[in-house]
Amino acid sequence: MPKRTTTLPLTLAPRPAGTGATRWLYDALRTEILEGRIRTGVRLPATRDLAAQYGLSRGTVVSAFDRLRAEGYVVQRTGSGTRVNTVLPQDLLRTPRTPARPAAERPPARHLTGFVSRVALFRGYEPRSIHAFRDNQPALDLFPITVWARVAARRLRRVGPALLVGTEPLGYPPLQQAVADYLRTSRGVRCEPGQVAIVSGVQEALDLVARLVLDPGDRVCLEEPGYIGAARVFEAVGATIVPVPVDAEGITLGARPWRGARLAYVTPAHQFPLGLEMSLPRRLALLERARTAGTLIFEDDYDAEYRYAGRPVPALQGLDHHGVVLFSGTFSKVLFPSLRLGYLVVPPDLVDRVTAAKSVVSRHASLLDQAVLCDFIADGHFGRHLRRMREIYAERLGVLLREGRAQLEGLVEISDIEAGLQAVGWLANGMTGVAAQRAAAGRGVEVTPISRYARAPLAREGLHLGFAAVDANEIRRGVRELSVALS
Ligand SMILES: Cc1ncc(COP(=O)(O)O)c(C=O)c1O
Repeated sequence: MPKRTTTLPLTLAPRPAGTGATRWLYDALRTEILEGRIRTGVRLPATRDLAAQYGLSRGTVVSAFDRLRAEGYVVQRTGSGTRVNTVLPQDLLRTPRTPARPAAERPPARHLTGFVSRVALFRGYEPRSIHAFRDNQPALDLFPITVWARVAARRLRRVGPALLVGTEPLGYPPLQQAVADYLRTSRGVRCEPGQVAIVSGVQEALDLVARLVLDPGDRVCLEEPGYIGAARVFEAVGATIVPVPVDAEGITLGARPWRGARLAYVTPAHQFPLGLEMSLPRRLALLERARTAGTLIFEDDYDAEYRYAGRPVPALQGLDHHGVVLFSGTFSKVLFPSLRLGYLVVPPDLVDRVTAAKSVVSRHASLLDQAVLCDFIADGHFGRHLRRMREIYAERLGVLLREGRAQLEGLVEISDIEAGLQAVGWLANGMTGVAAQRAAAGRGVEVTPISRYARAPLAREGLHLGFAAVDANEIRRGVRELSVALS
Protein backbone atom coordinates (compact mmCIF):
# COMPACT_ATOMS: atom_id res chain seq x y z
CA MET A 1 0.00 0.00 0.00
CA PRO A 2 1.44 3.45 -0.82
CA LYS A 3 2.45 5.47 2.19
CA ARG A 4 0.29 8.49 2.90
CA THR A 5 1.90 11.88 3.19
CA THR A 6 0.56 15.19 4.34
CA THR A 7 0.65 17.29 1.24
CA LEU A 8 -1.47 19.98 2.82
CA PRO A 9 -0.07 22.39 5.41
CA LEU A 10 -1.03 21.52 9.00
CA THR A 11 -3.31 23.88 10.85
CA LEU A 12 -2.55 23.66 14.56
CA ALA A 13 -4.38 25.23 17.50
CA PRO A 14 -2.96 28.67 18.36
CA ARG A 15 -0.22 28.84 20.97
CA PRO A 16 -1.61 29.89 24.37
CA ALA A 17 0.17 32.83 26.00
CA GLY A 18 2.91 31.74 28.35
CA THR A 19 3.44 28.29 26.74
CA GLY A 20 6.90 27.52 25.40
CA ALA A 21 7.17 26.88 21.67
CA THR A 22 8.44 23.29 21.92
CA ARG A 23 5.81 22.35 24.48
CA TRP A 24 3.03 23.91 22.40
CA LEU A 25 4.12 22.20 19.18
CA TYR A 26 4.47 18.83 20.91
CA ASP A 27 1.01 19.17 22.52
CA ALA A 28 -0.64 20.37 19.35
CA LEU A 29 0.77 17.56 17.19
CA ARG A 30 -0.02 14.93 19.82
CA THR A 31 -3.63 16.14 20.01
CA GLU A 32 -3.97 16.02 16.21
CA ILE A 33 -2.66 12.43 16.23
CA LEU A 34 -4.74 11.25 19.16
CA GLU A 35 -7.93 12.75 17.81
CA GLY A 36 -7.35 11.09 14.46
CA ARG A 37 -7.01 14.26 12.39
CA ILE A 38 -3.53 13.17 11.39
CA ARG A 39 -3.96 9.49 10.53
CA THR A 40 -1.52 6.69 11.31
CA GLY A 41 1.13 6.23 8.62
CA VAL A 42 0.84 9.82 7.45
CA ARG A 43 4.06 11.79 6.94
CA LEU A 44 4.43 14.97 8.94
CA PRO A 45 5.64 18.07 7.12
CA ALA A 46 9.40 18.57 6.92
CA THR A 47 10.82 20.31 10.00
CA ARG A 48 12.02 23.18 7.79
CA ASP A 49 8.50 23.75 6.37
CA LEU A 50 6.82 23.54 9.75
CA ALA A 51 9.35 25.97 11.24
CA ALA A 52 8.74 28.45 8.40
CA GLN A 53 4.94 28.08 8.62
CA TYR A 54 4.77 28.84 12.35
CA GLY A 55 7.75 31.23 12.63
CA LEU A 56 9.75 28.83 14.83
CA SER A 57 13.39 27.86 14.81
CA ARG A 58 14.13 24.52 13.19
CA GLY A 59 15.67 23.33 16.50
CA THR A 60 12.31 23.87 18.23
CA VAL A 61 10.51 21.67 15.70
CA VAL A 62 13.22 19.01 15.91
CA SER A 63 12.87 18.95 19.73
CA ALA A 64 9.10 18.52 19.54
CA PHE A 65 9.48 15.71 16.97
CA ASP A 66 12.12 14.04 19.17
CA ARG A 67 9.77 13.97 22.11
CA LEU A 68 6.92 12.54 20.01
CA ARG A 69 9.32 9.90 18.72
CA ALA A 70 10.57 9.02 22.19
CA GLU A 71 6.95 8.45 23.28
CA GLY A 72 6.12 6.29 20.26
CA TYR A 73 3.71 8.67 18.48
CA VAL A 74 5.92 9.01 15.42
CA VAL A 75 8.71 7.07 13.77
CA GLN A 76 11.59 8.48 11.82
CA ARG A 77 13.25 6.70 8.93
CA THR A 78 15.99 8.04 6.74
CA GLY A 79 14.60 8.92 3.35
CA SER A 80 10.95 8.74 4.38
CA GLY A 81 10.77 11.54 6.93
CA THR A 82 8.75 11.47 10.13
CA ARG A 83 5.51 9.49 10.04
CA VAL A 84 2.75 8.85 12.53
CA ASN A 85 3.35 5.41 14.00
CA THR A 86 1.18 2.79 12.29
CA VAL A 87 1.20 0.66 15.43
CA LEU A 88 -0.20 3.39 17.61
CA PRO A 89 -2.31 1.54 20.17
CA GLN A 90 -5.96 2.05 19.23
CA ASP A 91 -6.89 2.67 22.83
CA LEU A 92 -4.64 5.71 22.84
CA LEU A 93 -6.75 7.21 20.07
CA ARG A 94 -9.46 9.27 21.60
CA THR A 95 -12.00 9.60 18.86
CA PRO A 96 -13.55 7.06 16.54
CA ARG A 97 -13.19 7.74 12.79
CA THR A 98 -16.72 9.08 12.52
CA PRO A 99 -17.59 11.05 15.58
CA ALA A 100 -20.92 9.83 16.90
CA ARG A 101 -23.38 12.47 17.96
CA PRO A 102 -24.42 12.04 21.59
CA ALA A 103 -27.95 10.64 21.66
CA ALA A 104 -29.40 13.54 23.61
CA GLU A 105 -27.81 16.25 21.45
CA ARG A 106 -30.42 18.30 19.59
CA PRO A 107 -29.58 19.83 16.23
CA PRO A 108 -29.07 23.56 16.59
CA ALA A 109 -32.02 25.83 15.74
CA ARG A 110 -31.27 27.31 12.32
CA HIS A 111 -33.01 29.88 10.26
CA LEU A 112 -33.49 28.27 6.87
CA THR A 113 -35.43 29.38 3.82
CA GLY A 114 -38.85 28.36 2.55
CA PHE A 115 -36.97 26.55 -0.23
CA VAL A 116 -35.53 24.17 2.37
CA SER A 117 -38.97 23.30 3.67
CA ARG A 118 -40.13 22.49 0.14
CA VAL A 119 -37.14 20.78 -1.44
CA ALA A 120 -37.13 16.96 -1.30
CA LEU A 121 -34.43 14.50 -2.21
CA PHE A 122 -34.67 13.37 -5.81
CA ARG A 123 -32.88 10.04 -5.97
CA GLY A 124 -30.88 9.77 -9.12
CA TYR A 125 -28.89 6.91 -10.45
CA GLU A 126 -28.20 4.49 -7.63
CA PRO A 127 -25.26 2.11 -7.94
CA ARG A 128 -27.30 -1.10 -7.66
CA SER A 129 -26.46 -4.35 -9.40
CA ILE A 130 -28.31 -4.50 -12.65
CA HIS A 131 -31.20 -6.81 -13.50
CA ALA A 132 -34.03 -7.08 -15.98
CA PHE A 133 -36.03 -4.78 -16.30
CA ARG A 134 -34.05 -1.73 -15.13
CA ASP A 135 -35.71 1.30 -16.66
CA ASN A 136 -34.35 4.66 -17.68
CA GLN A 137 -30.83 3.38 -18.10
CA PRO A 138 -28.75 2.76 -21.23
CA ALA A 139 -26.35 -0.19 -21.63
CA LEU A 140 -23.46 1.30 -19.73
CA ASP A 141 -21.34 -1.83 -20.18
CA LEU A 142 -21.35 -1.16 -23.93
CA PHE A 143 -20.16 2.42 -23.70
CA PRO A 144 -16.88 2.66 -25.66
CA ILE A 145 -14.86 3.77 -22.68
CA THR A 146 -11.49 3.10 -24.33
CA VAL A 147 -12.41 5.42 -27.19
CA TRP A 148 -13.56 8.04 -24.70
CA ALA A 149 -10.29 7.61 -22.78
CA ARG A 150 -8.28 8.07 -25.99
CA VAL A 151 -10.19 11.20 -26.97
CA ALA A 152 -9.85 12.56 -23.42
CA ALA A 153 -6.12 11.81 -23.24
CA ARG A 154 -5.48 13.53 -26.55
CA ARG A 155 -7.45 16.56 -25.44
CA LEU A 156 -5.73 16.72 -22.04
CA ARG A 157 -2.28 16.54 -23.63
CA ARG A 158 -3.12 19.62 -25.69
CA VAL A 159 -4.75 21.64 -22.91
CA GLY A 160 -3.45 25.16 -22.55
CA PRO A 161 -4.29 27.91 -20.07
CA ALA A 162 -7.41 28.89 -22.04
CA LEU A 163 -9.11 25.60 -21.26
CA LEU A 164 -7.97 25.74 -17.65
CA VAL A 165 -9.26 29.21 -16.99
CA GLY A 166 -12.92 28.81 -17.95
CA THR A 167 -15.49 29.76 -20.53
CA GLU A 168 -18.71 31.68 -21.06
CA PRO A 169 -21.62 30.62 -18.82
CA LEU A 170 -23.52 29.04 -21.70
CA GLY A 171 -20.65 26.74 -22.50
CA TYR A 172 -17.69 25.88 -24.72
CA PRO A 173 -18.51 27.57 -28.04
CA PRO A 174 -17.40 24.65 -30.26
CA LEU A 175 -19.69 22.35 -28.24
CA GLN A 176 -22.58 24.82 -28.52
CA GLN A 177 -22.00 24.72 -32.27
CA ALA A 178 -21.81 20.91 -32.38
CA VAL A 179 -24.98 20.55 -30.31
CA ALA A 180 -26.82 23.12 -32.44
CA ASP A 181 -25.80 21.24 -35.61
CA TYR A 182 -26.93 17.94 -34.12
CA LEU A 183 -30.27 19.31 -32.92
CA ARG A 184 -30.99 21.04 -36.23
CA THR A 185 -30.29 17.97 -38.34
CA SER A 186 -31.42 15.16 -36.05
CA ARG A 187 -34.17 16.71 -33.95
CA GLY A 188 -35.59 19.42 -36.20
CA VAL A 189 -34.81 22.12 -33.63
CA ARG A 190 -34.57 25.68 -34.97
CA CYS A 191 -31.66 27.34 -33.23
CA GLU A 192 -28.39 29.20 -33.49
CA PRO A 193 -25.41 28.01 -31.41
CA GLY A 194 -25.75 31.10 -29.20
CA GLN A 195 -29.15 29.89 -28.02
CA VAL A 196 -27.71 26.63 -26.72
CA ALA A 197 -26.78 26.49 -23.03
CA ILE A 198 -24.67 23.53 -22.01
CA VAL A 199 -26.07 22.39 -18.67
CA SER A 200 -25.58 19.58 -16.17
CA GLY A 201 -28.37 17.50 -17.64
CA VAL A 202 -32.07 18.20 -17.98
CA GLN A 203 -32.18 18.55 -14.20
CA GLU A 204 -30.17 21.76 -14.26
CA ALA A 205 -32.17 23.02 -17.22
CA LEU A 206 -35.35 22.56 -15.20
CA ASP A 207 -33.84 24.38 -12.25
CA LEU A 208 -32.67 27.30 -14.40
CA VAL A 209 -36.03 27.63 -16.09
CA ALA A 210 -37.89 27.41 -12.78
CA ARG A 211 -35.72 30.22 -11.40
CA LEU A 212 -36.42 32.29 -14.47
CA VAL A 213 -40.17 31.95 -14.76
CA LEU A 214 -41.68 30.69 -11.51
CA ASP A 215 -42.38 32.65 -8.36
CA PRO A 216 -43.90 30.95 -5.32
CA GLY A 217 -47.58 30.26 -5.99
CA ASP A 218 -47.25 30.34 -9.79
CA ARG A 219 -49.06 27.57 -11.60
CA VAL A 220 -47.17 25.01 -13.64
CA CYS A 221 -48.84 22.31 -15.73
CA LEU A 222 -47.29 18.88 -15.50
CA GLU A 223 -48.21 15.80 -17.49
CA GLU A 224 -50.12 13.28 -15.36
CA PRO A 225 -48.56 10.79 -14.94
CA GLY A 226 -45.25 12.60 -15.34
CA TYR A 227 -41.59 12.96 -14.52
CA ILE A 228 -40.76 13.23 -10.81
CA GLY A 229 -37.50 15.10 -11.48
CA ALA A 230 -39.50 17.99 -12.93
CA ALA A 231 -42.09 17.98 -10.16
CA ARG A 232 -39.37 18.15 -7.49
CA VAL A 233 -37.88 21.28 -9.03
CA PHE A 234 -41.22 23.06 -9.35
CA GLU A 235 -42.21 22.12 -5.80
CA ALA A 236 -38.89 23.39 -4.47
CA VAL A 237 -39.42 26.88 -5.89
CA GLY A 238 -42.91 26.95 -4.36
CA ALA A 239 -44.88 26.66 -7.60
CA THR A 240 -48.33 25.11 -7.61
CA ILE A 241 -48.30 21.97 -9.68
CA VAL A 242 -51.38 21.39 -11.80
CA PRO A 243 -51.47 17.75 -12.96
CA VAL A 244 -52.88 17.65 -16.49
CA PRO A 245 -54.13 14.29 -17.80
CA VAL A 246 -52.51 12.74 -20.84
CA ASP A 247 -54.61 11.01 -23.51
CA ALA A 248 -53.59 9.07 -26.62
CA GLU A 249 -52.54 12.33 -28.35
CA GLY A 250 -50.55 13.80 -25.51
CA ILE A 251 -51.17 16.36 -22.77
CA THR A 252 -54.83 17.46 -22.79
CA LEU A 253 -55.80 21.09 -23.21
CA GLY A 254 -58.99 21.53 -21.19
CA ALA A 255 -59.25 25.22 -20.29
CA ARG A 256 -59.33 24.91 -16.51
CA PRO A 257 -55.91 23.51 -15.66
CA TRP A 258 -54.23 25.85 -18.12
CA ARG A 259 -55.75 29.04 -16.75
CA GLY A 260 -52.97 31.34 -15.58
CA ALA A 261 -50.26 28.67 -16.03
CA ARG A 262 -46.81 30.23 -16.32
CA LEU A 263 -45.09 27.06 -17.46
CA ALA A 264 -45.94 23.61 -18.80
CA TYR A 265 -43.61 20.63 -18.73
CA VAL A 266 -44.10 18.16 -21.60
CA THR A 267 -42.34 15.18 -23.22
CA PRO A 268 -43.80 15.27 -26.77
CA ALA A 269 -41.48 12.79 -28.51
CA HIS A 270 -41.98 10.03 -25.97
CA GLN A 271 -44.26 10.82 -23.07
CA PHE A 272 -42.71 9.94 -19.74
CA PRO A 273 -43.72 7.44 -18.40
CA LEU A 274 -46.36 6.20 -20.90
CA GLY A 275 -44.22 6.33 -24.03
CA LEU A 276 -46.82 7.98 -26.28
CA GLU A 277 -45.96 10.41 -29.03
CA MET A 278 -47.80 13.75 -29.06
CA SER A 279 -49.89 14.03 -32.23
CA LEU A 280 -49.38 16.88 -34.69
CA PRO A 281 -52.81 18.45 -34.09
CA ARG A 282 -52.16 18.38 -30.32
CA ARG A 283 -48.75 19.95 -30.81
CA LEU A 284 -50.21 22.80 -32.85
CA ALA A 285 -53.03 23.31 -30.35
CA LEU A 286 -50.58 23.29 -27.46
CA LEU A 287 -48.39 25.92 -29.11
CA GLU A 288 -51.43 28.07 -29.79
CA ARG A 289 -52.65 27.75 -26.22
CA ALA A 290 -49.21 28.64 -24.90
CA ARG A 291 -48.98 31.68 -27.19
CA THR A 292 -52.38 33.06 -26.32
CA ALA A 293 -52.17 32.33 -22.59
CA GLY A 294 -48.56 33.51 -22.15
CA THR A 295 -47.47 30.06 -20.94
CA LEU A 296 -43.90 28.91 -21.59
CA ILE A 297 -43.38 25.28 -22.55
CA PHE A 298 -40.50 23.18 -21.27
CA GLU A 299 -39.95 20.43 -23.84
CA ASP A 300 -38.00 17.52 -22.33
CA ASP A 301 -36.49 15.49 -25.16
CA TYR A 302 -34.79 13.06 -22.78
CA ASP A 303 -34.55 9.94 -24.98
CA ALA A 304 -35.99 10.87 -28.37
CA GLU A 305 -32.88 9.55 -30.14
CA TYR A 306 -34.20 6.04 -29.67
CA ARG A 307 -36.99 5.19 -32.03
CA TYR A 308 -37.08 1.69 -33.50
CA ALA A 309 -40.12 1.74 -35.74
CA GLY A 310 -41.68 4.43 -37.90
CA ARG A 311 -40.18 7.80 -38.66
CA PRO A 312 -38.23 9.94 -36.19
CA VAL A 313 -40.38 12.35 -34.21
CA PRO A 314 -39.15 15.92 -34.65
CA ALA A 315 -39.11 18.37 -31.77
CA LEU A 316 -42.11 20.49 -30.86
CA GLN A 317 -39.68 23.41 -30.72
CA GLY A 318 -39.26 23.19 -34.51
CA LEU A 319 -42.91 24.18 -34.94
CA ASP A 320 -42.70 27.14 -32.58
CA HIS A 321 -42.71 30.53 -34.32
CA HIS A 322 -43.38 32.61 -31.22
CA GLY A 323 -40.56 31.76 -28.84
CA VAL A 324 -42.71 29.88 -26.35
CA VAL A 325 -40.72 26.63 -26.21
CA LEU A 326 -37.62 25.97 -24.13
CA PHE A 327 -36.11 22.77 -25.46
CA SER A 328 -33.91 20.52 -23.35
CA GLY A 329 -32.14 17.22 -23.82
CA THR A 330 -29.42 15.17 -22.24
CA PHE A 331 -26.34 13.05 -22.90
CA SER A 332 -27.36 10.83 -19.94
CA LYS A 333 -29.15 8.33 -22.17
CA VAL A 334 -27.03 8.47 -25.30
CA LEU A 335 -23.67 8.44 -23.50
CA PHE A 336 -23.69 7.95 -19.72
CA PRO A 337 -25.53 9.69 -16.89
CA SER A 338 -22.57 10.56 -14.66
CA LEU A 339 -21.23 12.83 -17.41
CA ARG A 340 -23.89 15.31 -16.26
CA LEU A 341 -24.04 17.16 -19.55
CA GLY A 342 -27.10 18.20 -21.49
CA TYR A 343 -28.45 21.27 -23.26
CA LEU A 344 -31.14 23.88 -22.99
CA VAL A 345 -32.13 25.78 -26.12
CA VAL A 346 -33.75 29.08 -25.27
CA PRO A 347 -35.58 31.67 -27.37
CA PRO A 348 -33.24 34.54 -28.38
CA ASP A 349 -34.80 37.08 -26.00
CA LEU A 350 -34.07 34.85 -23.00
CA VAL A 351 -30.41 34.18 -23.81
CA ASP A 352 -29.08 37.00 -21.60
CA ARG A 353 -31.30 35.99 -18.67
CA VAL A 354 -30.21 32.37 -18.87
CA THR A 355 -26.58 33.47 -19.16
CA ALA A 356 -26.87 35.56 -16.00
CA ALA A 357 -28.66 32.79 -14.09
CA LYS A 358 -26.12 30.19 -15.17
CA SER A 359 -23.24 32.47 -14.22
CA VAL A 360 -24.34 32.65 -10.60
CA VAL A 361 -25.57 29.08 -10.27
CA SER A 362 -22.56 27.16 -11.60
CA ARG A 363 -20.48 29.59 -13.73
CA HIS A 364 -20.43 26.94 -16.46
CA ALA A 365 -20.37 23.15 -16.82
CA SER A 366 -16.95 21.49 -16.47
CA LEU A 367 -14.99 22.85 -19.42
CA LEU A 368 -12.67 19.88 -19.88
CA ASP A 369 -15.64 17.49 -20.02
CA GLN A 370 -17.30 19.78 -22.56
CA ALA A 371 -14.14 19.82 -24.69
CA VAL A 372 -13.80 16.02 -24.58
CA LEU A 373 -17.46 15.59 -25.49
CA CYS A 374 -17.03 18.04 -28.35
CA ASP A 375 -14.09 16.04 -29.73
CA PHE A 376 -16.05 12.81 -29.28
CA ILE A 377 -18.84 14.26 -31.42
CA ALA A 378 -16.53 15.88 -33.99
CA ASP A 379 -14.55 12.64 -34.48
CA GLY A 380 -17.75 10.77 -35.33
CA HIS A 381 -17.79 8.55 -32.23
CA PHE A 382 -21.06 9.99 -30.97
CA GLY A 383 -22.92 9.18 -34.18
CA ARG A 384 -21.37 5.72 -34.34
CA HIS A 385 -22.23 4.92 -30.73
CA LEU A 386 -25.79 6.11 -31.22
CA ARG A 387 -26.27 3.97 -34.34
CA ARG A 388 -24.81 0.91 -32.61
CA MET A 389 -26.97 1.38 -29.54
CA ARG A 390 -30.08 1.85 -31.66
CA GLU A 391 -29.46 -1.52 -33.30
CA ILE A 392 -28.75 -3.27 -30.01
CA TYR A 393 -31.72 -1.78 -28.21
CA ALA A 394 -33.99 -2.63 -31.14
CA GLU A 395 -32.89 -6.27 -30.84
CA ARG A 396 -33.41 -6.25 -27.08
CA LEU A 397 -36.84 -4.71 -27.47
CA GLY A 398 -37.65 -7.41 -30.05
CA VAL A 399 -36.74 -10.10 -27.51
CA LEU A 400 -38.89 -8.47 -24.84
CA LEU A 401 -41.88 -8.16 -27.17
CA ARG A 402 -41.59 -11.71 -28.52
CA GLU A 403 -40.96 -13.44 -25.21
CA GLY A 404 -43.25 -11.17 -23.25
CA ARG A 405 -46.21 -11.58 -25.57
CA ALA A 406 -45.72 -15.35 -25.57
CA GLN A 407 -45.20 -15.87 -21.84
CA LEU A 408 -47.06 -13.05 -20.15
CA GLU A 409 -50.40 -13.49 -21.82
CA GLY A 410 -53.23 -12.73 -19.42
CA LEU A 411 -50.74 -11.16 -17.00
CA VAL A 412 -49.19 -8.22 -18.80
CA GLU A 413 -50.01 -6.55 -22.11
CA ILE A 414 -46.95 -4.89 -23.51
CA SER A 415 -47.78 -1.69 -25.39
CA ASP A 416 -46.62 -1.46 -28.97
CA ILE A 417 -44.77 1.82 -28.80
CA GLU A 418 -41.26 1.06 -30.00
CA ALA A 419 -39.06 3.81 -28.65
CA GLY A 420 -36.88 4.84 -25.74
CA LEU A 421 -35.29 2.60 -23.16
CA GLN A 422 -38.41 0.99 -21.68
CA ALA A 423 -41.75 -0.42 -22.69
CA VAL A 424 -44.97 -0.17 -20.74
CA GLY A 425 -46.58 -3.41 -19.60
CA TRP A 426 -50.22 -2.98 -18.64
CA LEU A 427 -51.24 -5.32 -15.85
CA ALA A 428 -54.01 -7.63 -16.98
CA ASN A 429 -54.23 -9.82 -13.88
CA GLY A 430 -55.89 -7.34 -11.53
CA MET A 431 -52.72 -6.72 -9.51
CA THR A 432 -51.65 -3.22 -8.53
CA GLY A 433 -48.31 -2.01 -9.84
CA VAL A 434 -46.86 -1.97 -6.34
CA ALA A 435 -47.95 -5.55 -5.64
CA ALA A 436 -46.50 -6.65 -8.98
CA GLN A 437 -43.24 -4.87 -8.18
CA ARG A 438 -43.01 -6.68 -4.85
CA ALA A 439 -43.76 -10.06 -6.39
CA ALA A 440 -41.22 -9.48 -9.18
CA ALA A 441 -38.54 -8.37 -6.71
CA GLY A 442 -39.01 -11.69 -4.91
CA ARG A 443 -37.81 -13.39 -8.10
CA GLY A 444 -34.91 -11.05 -8.78
CA VAL A 445 -36.73 -8.90 -11.32
CA GLU A 446 -36.99 -5.13 -11.24
CA VAL A 447 -40.08 -3.34 -12.49
CA THR A 448 -41.27 0.18 -11.76
CA PRO A 449 -45.00 0.75 -11.28
CA ILE A 450 -46.34 3.52 -13.50
CA SER A 451 -48.28 4.67 -10.43
CA ARG A 452 -44.95 5.90 -9.01
CA TYR A 453 -45.18 8.76 -11.49
CA ALA A 454 -48.84 9.56 -10.89
CA ARG A 455 -50.34 11.96 -8.36
CA ALA A 456 -53.82 10.44 -8.55
CA PRO A 457 -54.95 6.79 -8.89
CA LEU A 458 -54.54 5.54 -12.46
CA ALA A 459 -57.38 4.18 -14.57
CA ARG A 460 -55.11 1.29 -15.47
CA GLU A 461 -52.14 -0.10 -13.58
CA GLY A 462 -48.93 -0.77 -15.43
CA LEU A 463 -45.20 -1.34 -15.19
CA HIS A 464 -42.10 0.11 -16.78
CA LEU A 465 -40.13 -2.69 -18.37
CA GLY A 466 -36.64 -1.45 -19.23
CA PHE A 467 -34.99 -3.38 -22.05
CA ALA A 468 -31.86 -1.38 -22.91
CA ALA A 469 -29.61 -1.87 -19.90
CA VAL A 470 -29.42 -5.68 -19.92
CA ASP A 471 -28.71 -8.28 -22.61
CA ALA A 472 -31.13 -10.66 -24.35
CA ASN A 473 -30.49 -13.55 -21.98
CA GLU A 474 -31.26 -11.44 -18.96
CA ILE A 475 -34.42 -10.20 -20.66
CA ARG A 476 -35.47 -13.82 -21.28
CA ARG A 477 -34.79 -14.68 -17.64
CA GLY A 478 -36.73 -11.60 -16.58
CA VAL A 479 -39.77 -12.60 -18.64
CA ARG A 480 -39.72 -16.15 -17.26
CA GLU A 481 -39.45 -14.98 -13.68
CA LEU A 482 -42.03 -12.25 -14.12
CA SER A 483 -44.49 -14.76 -15.50
CA VAL A 484 -44.03 -16.90 -12.37
CA ALA A 485 -44.19 -13.88 -10.07
CA LEU A 486 -47.43 -12.55 -11.53
CA SER A 487 -49.22 -15.87 -12.00
C1 LIG B 1 -38.18 12.22 -18.28
C2 LIG B 1 -36.73 12.40 -18.02
N1 LIG B 1 -36.16 13.59 -18.28
C3 LIG B 1 -34.84 13.78 -18.08
C4 LIG B 1 -34.05 12.79 -17.61
C5 LIG B 1 -32.55 12.96 -17.53
O1 LIG B 1 -32.12 13.83 -16.68
P1 LIG B 1 -30.61 14.27 -16.64
O2 LIG B 1 -30.25 14.87 -17.96
O3 LIG B 1 -30.62 15.28 -15.56
O4 LIG B 1 -29.76 13.08 -16.32
C6 LIG B 1 -34.59 11.57 -17.27
C7 LIG B 1 -33.74 10.55 -16.67
O5 LIG B 1 -34.09 9.56 -16.19
C8 LIG B 1 -35.96 11.36 -17.51
O6 LIG B 1 -36.51 10.17 -17.25
